[in-house]
Amino acid sequence: MKAVVLVGGEGTRLRPLTETIPKPLIPVMDRAFLDHVLDHLARHGISEAILSSPYLQDTFAPFIAARAGAAPTIIWLTESSPLGTGGAIVNALDHLPADEPVFALNGDILTDLDLTAMLAYHREKRASVTISLTRVEDARPFGLVPTDGEGRVFEFLEKPAEPIPGEVNAGTYVLDPKVLHGFARGEPLSIEREIFPAIIADGRPVFGFLSRGYWMDLGTPEKYLQGHADILEGKVEGLRYPAPWVSPAATVDINAHLGRWVAIGPDAVVEASSTLEDSVVLAGARIGAGARLDRTIVGPNAEVGPGATLSGCVLGEGSSVPDGLDLIDARVGSRATAQAQS
Ligand code: GTP
Repeated sequence: MKAVVLVGGEGTRLRPLTETIPKPLIPVMDRAFLDHVLDHLARHGISEAILSSPYLQDTFAPFIAARAGAAPTIIWLTESSPLGTGGAIVNALDHLPADEPVFALNGDILTDLDLTAMLAYHREKRASVTISLTRVEDARPFGLVPTDGEGRVFEFLEKPAEPIPGEVNAGTYVLDPKVLHGFARGEPLSIEREIFPAIIADGRPVFGFLSRGYWMDLGTPEKYLQGHADILEGKVEGLRYPAPWVSPAATVDINAHLGRWVAIGPDAVVEASSTLEDSVVLAGARIGAGARLDRTIVGPNAEVGPGATLSGCVLGEGSSVPDGLDLIDARVGSRATAQAQS
């Protein structure tokens, strides 16, 4: 069984972290987020994953080398300019079987979706496409995907203006590759806005598979932090970490205070009397003595000076915050030095 994993977005909502690291390669605990996604695929018997990215393509090479020998096998395709969520799948057609369904999925979703059950449902329904659905309390950022009594999808609705609950596209699909044949290769296409509506308009059977499992799109700083808290709370099946999680290769002073929803990456240093709550410190970063962090992501090798106070901040790779500075909801670009807020 094969899967196309979409990893080529610029991840603008997660800037400045994504200025230097593509979103799927940002660590979640001890591994890149994409490692978790690929391991989940392997647990459901997917043997080959097809990936492409026009954005920071070279940064994927060491990741792929490090996974050599692990399942699934990775096939890397060149995507010279952004093909979008649909164009990237159409671009993989030469590597997909003619008569077997394949998975296609967003590479930025933390989920314990039962892919085996989803594939069985796809076969039972004799669907051309099966779209995983998840129920959210506020569908505004997503757009609703209504289904009939049999689970069939007839339309994709626009994002609602009001915060209403409903079932939304959860970003994992089972596809009969034949449905992709009519689409132009090498052209940007959106799977949600162009390919699925066209397939539905053709009268082909498109079904929704509602999952009640864990689901979180890690595409914003808030959701990235929430995903960590949920993993640490044991809400994501298959992922178990002690709370707080401290890499064995990190150094945390005995007089530092770490709240439960905190993760400290390898080679990071947390000095005495600092206090961290609901925050993630990535590899090689340094938190100076007496610093206070809450709801903050500290990028790789960033430095937070002694006595600084950060709330709701995202620090890019190699950035620094001078001693004693107070920042609220700040974004500090890669290798930049934070300035006082006016
Ligand atoms: P934002 O810029 O913050 O919206 O993030 P994004 O660029 O990742 O966009 P979005 O979250 O909508 O993308 C959904 C999934 O599709 C993610 O896993 C992206 O990596 C992926 N994706 C988006 N655009 C492309 C593309 O042009 N090519 C490929 N291969 N993947 C894409």
